[in-house]
Amino acid sequence: MSVEELLKAHGRPSREVYFDNENSGYVPREVVEEMIPYFNSVGYGHPSITHRPGWEAYEVVYKTKEALAKVLNTGSVNEFSIVHSGTEANNLAVLGYALASRERKGKIVVSAIEHLSVIHPAEEAERLLGFKVVRVPVDSEGFVDPEVFKELIDRNTSLVSIQMVNHEIGTIQNIYELSKIAKEVNSEVVFHTDAADAFGKLAIDLKKLEHVDMVTLSSHKIHGPRGVGILFTREGVRLESILKGQLSSEKLWPGVENVPLIAGFRKAVELAFENFDSHVAKMSELRNLLIKGISDRVSDVLVNGPIDFSRRAPDNANLSFLYVEGEALTVELSINGVYVSSGSACSSRILEPSHVLLAIGRKHEEAHGSILFKTTRYHNREDIEYTLEVVPRAVSRLRSISAAKKT
Ligand SMILES: Cc1ncc(COP(=O)(O)O)c(C=O)c1O
Repeated sequence: MSVEELLKAHGRPSREVYFDNENSGYVPREVVEEMIPYFNSVGYGHPSITHRPGWEAYEVVYKTKEALAKVLNTGSVNEFSIVHSGTEANNLAVLGYALASRERKGKIVVSAIEHLSVIHPAEEAERLLGFKVVRVPVDSEGFVDPEVFKELIDRNTSLVSIQMVNHEIGTIQNIYELSKIAKEVNSEVVFHTDAADAFGKLAIDLKKLEHVDMVTLSSHKIHGPRGVGILFTREGVRLESILKGQLSSEKLWPGVENVPLIAGFRKAVELAFENFDSHVAKMSELRNLLIKGISDRVSDVLVNGPIDFSRRAPDNANLSFLYVEGEALTVELSINGVYVSSGSACSSRILEPSHVLLAIGRKHEEAHGSILFKTTRYHNREDIEYTLEVVPRAVSRLRSISAAKKT
C-alpha cells in the first residue's frame, strides 16, 4: 500500500498520542511564532552582509550561541558552529577532524552503539583517509566498561566519539570518566560526545566536562524545528569544513544560515531550560508509569536498556514485545492513534534490526519486536492511560494472528 492509500484507508483517530520523539517531534506554537517574522519581516537577509536585514539575521545567530553558552555553562560563543542537523554536526566532528589531521591518521574509537551519523563518517575516514576504526563493546544495558575502554586507547588514538545518551535505549554514559581516561592515556586525543539525545534531559556543564572537546546537539530533539544542528568545538581543536562553498558567518559551514529555524531553536532552548527540573521530572514520571503499566498488563515483554532508571534518560522506554513483529505493532498502534517506532527508530523503513539492540545482545527476533516510546513535557497522565488501554489490545490481537507464537 502506498502512503497515500494508507492515509486514506485509516482516518485520523479521535485520540492521538505521539511518542516517536526520537525521530522528530512536536514543535510548540511559541516556537513556530518565533520563526515567522524572520521569513519576511526582520532578519531575512544574509547574516554576513552589512545591511539592516543582515545585521538582524546575524543577531539571531549570535544570540542563539549566547543562549547555548549560558545553558551549557561555557564561556565563549565562538566555540559553537551552527549547522543543519545533528547528523551534519556529527559528520563535521568526525570527518572534519579526520580531514584536518589526515597527516597524523591513527585510530578513531567509537562505541558500538553510536548513532549511524558517527559510525558512518568514521568508516568513511577509514576508507578514504587511512584512519582505523576501533569499536568499543558495550554491556547488556549499553554501558561502556571504563577498563575495557582504557585498554582500547593508546598513543596512536586520534579521536574518540562516545555519545552521552543512547538514542534508542537511553543509556547514560559516564562521559566525564571516559573523557578523563582518554586524556590520561593520551593527552593528544580529541574527545567528541554526541549529546543530541542528552540535551534538554540531562544537565550538561561544559566547564565540568573539561576533557570533552566537541559536542553535538540537535534542535528537533528539544521541540525545536528540524534542520538545525550544533557542534561545540573547544578552542584549539582543528577541524576542516567538510562542505566547500561560499560566504557564511560560520567558519566551518559554508552557505547561508537558516535564520528562521535558528530563531525557533533559540526559543526551544529557552522553553526547555525555563523549568528544566520540572520538565525532566514529568518526563520521567510518565515514562515510569508507562513501563510499569505495560509490564503489568502484557506478558513476555523485555525492557531494553538500563533497569536502574537513575542511569537511563528520563524520557526513554524501549520495550521488546516477544512474538510480535515491531513493524506490525507500529501500524496497529498508529490505527489507534498511538505513534511509536520500532527496531531502530531511524531504520524502520529498512527493516534491519537495530545495531544498538544487537550490540547489547538482543537476538534478531527480540530486536524486531522492539518499540521505542519517548515521553515529553507535553504528555499527560491521560495520554499514558490511553496508551495502556491500546497497547495490550494491539499486542494481544497481533499475537493471536502471529506465525511466531509462543510454543
Ligand atoms: C543521538 C543522536 N545523534 C544524532 C542524531 C541526528 O540528528 P538529526 O536528526 O538532527 O540529524 C540523532 C537523531 O535522532 C540522535 O538521536
